[in-house]
Amino acid sequence: MRAESFHRPVKAVLPAAGFGTRFLPITKAVPKEMLPVGDRPVIDYVVQEAVAAGFTDILIIVSREKNCILDYFDRNHELERRLRSAGKHSEADELERIASQANFHFVRQPEMKGLGDAVLQAQAFVGKDPFALLLADTMILDNNGRPGKGDSLNALVSAHLEHRCSSVAIEPVAAERIHRYGVVGGRELHSGQFELKSMVEKPQPDEAPTMLDSGGQAYSHGFAFAARYLFTARIFDFLRTTQPGKNNEIQLTDAMAQLLVEEGFYGCRLPGKRLDIGNAAGLLEAHEIILKGKSSHD
Ligand code: G1P
Repeated sequence: MRAESFHRPVKAVLPAAGFGTRFLPITKAVPKEMLPVGDRPVIDYVVQEAVAAGFTDILIIVSREKNCILDYFDRNHELERRLRSAGKHSEADELERIASQANFHFVRQPEMKGLGDAVLQAQAFVGKDPFALLLADTMILDNNGRPGKGDSLNALVSAHLEHRCSSVAIEPVAAERIHRYGVVGGRELHSGQFELKSMVEKPQPDEAPTMLDSGGQAYSHGFAFAARYLFTARIFDFLRTTQPGKNNEIQLTDAMAQLLVEEGFYGCRLPGKRLDIGNAAGLLEAHEIILKGKSSHD
């Protein structure tokens, strides 16, 4: 066991610095994290998820072209005053709520060298505390099929507090899609809880690690990282020395594989559903789910 404290973590890091090449041409001018789902950008739901799970301090990692993310989470007093003087109090209240729901911090990734390098920019903010990592281009729905309560992050926090090491959300993925994800092997301890033994970023099917069920039988499908992580600060020591890997980028998964050897690592099966909005089909699905939920509440 290392010397980190094992209190419930309160810091969350949201990398939002990628080019968004899977969603060009729109992402040439609009960050993918700012694409609309219902009446708000995707990253709004990701922040709400972190806040719902008790994270009070949020660092968003941006690149040069993404200043509109800072504007979105900042107060705009002039606009709020104008709305209030026009009697539009609920709109003004909502803008105020968005900016004051957490303590927001921002940092720029100077060069887009990969997810691992983006996460490294969070080191000064994180210090020695454990922290959550939420990929800001992915919405996670709860058990009830709606965004909101942070079930997935809560499961990761519980695993972290129980096993005193890092944990990550994982989900089953079919063999033909395995080359798109970070893939993990290990064994299931009990339903939905996995002890991880190996991790490979975007493997070919024959390089993918195997996951055993609680009876020791290999699952016929793989298990992939699902955009939510809970790290001990030790991850930074490995990130600092990780060399470019898959796609010539500094891969978070490569640093995680080293952390696993030193501290162990737990996987929690994603209790809800992952919606990757980095492509048009995922964005459309998210939009439909949100609009359906909204109309059933109207
Ligand atoms: C990233 C990670 C990968 C993970 C995926 C989905 O890949 O590198 O390990 O499985 O997110 O959470 P990307 O989608 O940025 O290529």
